[in-house]
Amino acid sequence: MLRFSTAGESHGECLIAMVSGMPAGVPIDEAKMNRELWRRQQGYGRGGRMRIERDTAQILSGVRHGKTIGSPIAIRIENNDWKNWTESLPVAAGDPTKHKAVASPRPGHADLAGALKYDFPDARYVLERASARESTARVAAGAVAKQLLAELGINIASHVIRVGSAELDRAAEWSEIEALLHREEVLLGCVDEDAEQRMKAVVDQALRTGDSVGGVFEVVAHGVPPGLGTYANWDERLDGLLAFAVMSLQAVKAVEIGRGVTAAAAFGSVVHDSIHYAREQEADRHTRFTRDRNNAGGIEGGISNGEDVIVRGYLKPISTLRRPLGSVSFSTREEVKAAYERSDVCVVPAAGVAAEAMVALTLAKLAMEKFGGDSMREMVRNYQGYCEQIRRF
Ligand SMILES: Cc1cc2nc3c(=O)[nH]c(=O)nc-3n(C[C@H](O)[C@H](O)[C@H](O)COP(=O)(O)O)c2cc1C
Repeated sequence: MLRFSTAGESHGECLIAMVSGMPAGVPIDEAKMNRELWRRQQGYGRGGRMRIERDTAQILSGVRHGKTIGSPIAIRIENNDWKNWTESLPVAAGDPTKHKAVASPRPGHADLAGALKYDFPDARYVLERASARESTARVAAGAVAKQLLAELGINIASHVIRVGSAELDRAAEWSEIEALLHREEVLLGCVDEDAEQRMKAVVDQALRTGDSVGGVFEVVAHGVPPGLGTYANWDERLDGLLAFAVMSLQAVKAVEIGRGVTAAAAFGSVVHDSIHYAREQEADRHTRFTRDRNNAGGIEGGISNGEDVIVRGYLKPISTLRRPLGSVSFSTREEVKAAYERSDVCVVPAAGVAAEAMVALTLAKLAMEKFGGDSMREMVRNYQGYCEQIRRF
């Protein structure tokens, strides 16, 4: 079974990702993994931390001579900022006077609930793990999953469709979304220049006023065959698994599959995607069954249906505010302003990259379950056999 987990604190020595259950023989390119890490660091509205970090993955195990060997893959990403925290966040007891307390919990963060739950006198340790710095390790793990999926012709990309009140007001083609993967300058990760400028104006407003802003990203998985996930058991449904995976990302507060949200306000005739049959097999399709649109986001009954899988994540605004909201001091119980720590103002493009990783890990797990195999060669053979079967259906 494909599994992954992460470890590490935001200002600790490093982040760790562990991926196990990968078949042997998947080509792993560290440069591709580092490109994904770079993409997660980009976007207009990021804070000072992203200027300190130059995230680079070091693969410690499970990959030899450029390919997976079937054993667990351990990946380490150093925190450059650690050198500024060695005395404040030591593993040993250290000097308590060097501790950097988060003295008043920030509304919207895990600070208060975490301190209560773990019996901490302040929110430092809560912040250290609740921070979305953790998503760096997910992106590294996701890069492994993406390279497995690429062997099956499945590719994943994301784009930003809303920042605050500014939204992309037209449909985006897969080719446009995919092209964003190769951009050297990421502004807000939108396919449309005008919309992106409107989004930038919203971030500028937040920067000017000491506020923060959320938005919506869309992840698209292209080339997914029909048949991943199942309606047979509630906890094996593809839509449910994707919702869990994407919702588990920091600051994501709603997940939508296809046009799920607007569909709730429309009649069925304008929501569901009519089925057609092409006499000629199109090269980039798994079957001759086609649709005139993809409002379902590539999933019906918890199973991929052969169209692009489309998952949207809705992000609340960042909780750390330069003009902080009211809070209470952990030590005096006096009403004070919430703590401020160097922070991002808008992270929608970066969250999209982290969500690509979560979608990749979910699809790779289901692909492993369906096509199995201890080596990539075995898996590809199984996959091709299935593709042949559905082509002839
Ligand atoms: C890529 C990314 C970067 C983030 N950066 C920050 C940040 O700099 N400051 C902050 O307060 N929250 C940031 N967040 C959001 C918090 O991590 C998140 O709101 C917090 O951990 C509470 O979790 P919850 O929003 O899921 O309830 C970021 C989220 C993502 C996805």
